Amino acid sequence: MPRFTSEFQANLTELMRWRRDVRRFRTEPVDEALLQHCLDSFLLAPSVGLSEPWRIVRVESHSARTAAYANFADANAAALAGYAGDKARLYSRLKLSGMHDAPVQLAVFCDEGTQQGAGLGARTMPETRRYSVVAGIMQFWLSARARGLGVGWVSILDPDRLARDLDVPGDWSLVAWLCVGWPERDSDTPELERAGWQDRRGHLPLGLR
Ligand SMILES: Cc1cc2nc3c(=O)[nH]c(=O)nc-3n(C[C@H](O)[C@H](O)[C@H](O)COP(=O)(O)O)c2cc1C
Repeated sequence: MPRFTSEFQANLTELMRWRRDVRRFRTEPVDEALLQHCLDSFLLAPSVGLSEPWRIVRVESHSARTAAYANFADANAAALAGYAGDKARLYSRLKLSGMHDAPVQLAVFCDEGTQQGAGLGARTMPETRRYSVVAGIMQFWLSARARGLGVGWVSILDPDRLARDLDVPGDWSLVAWLCVGWPERDSDTPELERAGWQDRRGHLPLGLR
């Protein structure tokens, strides 16, 4: 195993500090080899029972993107209706997806019915298959950020409607819609914090038993 120097360790922390959920993208396309390199980091992620349950659909067609955006718009309107007063005003001003402008858009699913791994670990906690997909997403997110790309996670979606619109197998569940591209700006502060929606806690709740 290579020796990870203290400089590398410090850089890794900086990478995590500057990761960001990105919702505003420049229009330049993403080089295919670069994207593939970032996607390959899914293959280095841990997964329950080595089930590798991630399934990724690259959404390119105008019709599929239009359907997904309409799905987001409906879900976002419903979410706005759940707030009142100042919070509703603030929510309505937030930009909560880069689906209009991101050059690359990925629907990331979990194959809940995979036989790979023979059910090890997932028998008691089937949700660990989805957690495994999240582990892959994190690797992709950091790998993309290390190369200057931005990633934005969209969850304000009706997952069943999205799965129908993309015509994916019935036992795939949606984990994330990822918008990928070159960020308009870099920041070490989450956009929701900058917008006054939510501050970070700044400390880790750590219990002791
Ligand atoms: C599971 C998950 C779902 C998310 N869904 C959305 C979303 O639908 N829209 C959005 O704008 N941001 C979404 N985010 C991004 C979070 O708002 C963001 O991670 C958080 O505000 C902290 O900001 P940072 O990622 O820049 O550190 C999501 C993040 C996660 C982990």
